[in-house]
Amino acid sequence: MQVLTIRRPDDWHLHLRDGATLAAVLPFTARRFARAVVMPNLSPPVTTTTMALAYRQRILAALPSGVEFTPLMTLYLTDDTPVEEIDRAAASGAVLGCKLYPAGATTHSAAGVTDIRRLDAVLERMSERGLTLQVHGEVTDPAVDIFDRESCFIDRVLAPLVERFTSLRVVFEHVTTRAAVEYVCAARPGVGATITPQHLLLNRNALFQGGIRPHLYCLPVLKREADREALRGAVAGGNPRFFLGTDSAPHARSQKETACGCAGIFSAHAGIELYAEVFEELGALAKLEDFASGFGADFYGLPRNRGTLTLERQAWTPPPGYPLSPGELVPFRAGESVSWAVQA
Ligand code: NCD
Ligand code: ZN
Repeated sequence: MQVLTIRRPDDWHLHLRDGATLAAVLPFTARRFARAVVMPNLSPPVTTTTMALAYRQRILAALPSGVEFTPLMTLYLTDDTPVEEIDRAAASGAVLGCKLYPAGATTHSAAGVTDIRRLDAVLERMSERGLTLQVHGEVTDPAVDIFDRESCFIDRVLAPLVERFTSLRVVFEHVTTRAAVEYVCAARPGVGATITPQHLLLNRNALFQGGIRPHLYCLPVLKREADREALRGAVAGGNPRFFLGTDSAPHARSQKETACGCAGIFSAHAGIELYAEVFEELGALAKLEDFASGFGADFYGLPRNRGTLTLERQAWTPPPGYPLSPGELVPFRAGESVSWAVQA
């Protein structure tokens, strides 16, 4: 059997939710990843350092005993985020950055930012204090086609912002298009990007394979094959600007299989295994470790992890659902096969 031991990886973009859902999903991530950047789009959103520190404590309290895992916290930017909040966040030592959700772009983003120019002073202070800006890169203009919202965001918002704040570290989260890959490759130093497993594995045809597939609906939505090829080229090429971020985003089955289903794919149960599949398909398994366990830490200026994780080429079948209280969580590849497994 083929075995692959890598430095323990980190997940640089993760939704853990709260309460019973947090308790249900956290063990999957903590078993695989040493650290994760925890998204702040709770309801209500995590807009202050006090809230982020309290959320961090709830995450630590929900960890299975004996498991070592460090949550790296983020603040949710709003039109009204005060500059002083950036000082508090930086002083806490527990907040890595702030997340920009354009208002209305995705799940729980209603309180997000309506016009980035309102945040100039906040972004300036983040840059001074060394906090990173994590960006959900889609415009919300209803006149823009949903498949063009990311590329449009680059031109209208991201590129100008990156040039206005020349020393702000910016992560373009969950990139999905060739345009985004090209932008990130050519951008100034200090611009990186996360890539999800689903955008490396699937194109938008998968959403309509034999019928509508709500469990493959996420935001940004899956794109065309040429986009997927660009993402795969970026990771296979070992460009250090691109690193692992699952965007695992749990929603109960009832919230997905409904007339207006939520965006988000739960992948934490196979959060490293799915990437191993991609890198194997690309003939680039030797590049998995840097993508999963090196480049993200380097980008954020954090030490690489010391432990290891061993993967085996051993097919297994995720269950039809994992229990949630209330309800059930349908995982990515439910009832289908995943070709790599984490060694027991
Ligand atoms: C995320 C969620 O459910 O919180 N959903 C998603 O489709 N990715 C929000 C986000 O990251 O856009
Ligand atoms: Zn996300």
